[in-house]
Amino acid sequence: MYDFQPDPALGKAELYRQLCDAADALTRDEVDGVANMANVAALIWEFVPELNWAGFYRMGANANGAKELVLGPFVGRPACIRIPLGKGVCGTAASEGATQLVEDVHAFPGHIACDAASRSEVVVPVMRAGEVAAVIDLDSPEAARFDAEDAAGLEKLAQILAERI
Ligand code: SME
Repeated sequence: MYDFQPDPALGKAELYRQLCDAADALTRDEVDGVANMANVAALIWEFVPELNWAGFYRMGANANGAKELVLGPFVGRPACIRIPLGKGVCGTAASEGATQLVEDVHAFPGHIACDAASRSEVVVPVMRAGEVAAVIDLDSPEAARFDAEDAAGLEKLAQILAERI
């Protein structure tokens, strides 16, 4: 049994440090990427408060062979399955290879609404060998829920996962 007990009274930096340690321990000896993404989505859900969606989109391809994001393991409501590069917050993070911090999703051109409750979002690319292998996506029903500390914590998590998903 895994029994992580994050204390929300801890500061964000400490919460993300503990989240990264837990993710590192859970994925270190497992080669199955889907299993690792599933456990890490569950960990994010336990450690990060005020979320309505947390999970992964992996880099895949459409029927014509063009790269696009494909839904991976997550916690939350059922979500759109395929996202073309450059579309929405996730597709922008994937095409630019850069974290997207969105205080108000309604103000983001092309935002893809998977859950009408979402108000803010952070998307962090997982880079492997210089290419985007996946993105980590967190949604919140609170406006401006995510800041640079969230981005930094999730970027550290993405580094840990780079060769494990
Ligand atoms: N809002 C995202 C789509 C994914 S869902 O939030 C789970 C976007 O605009 O890319």
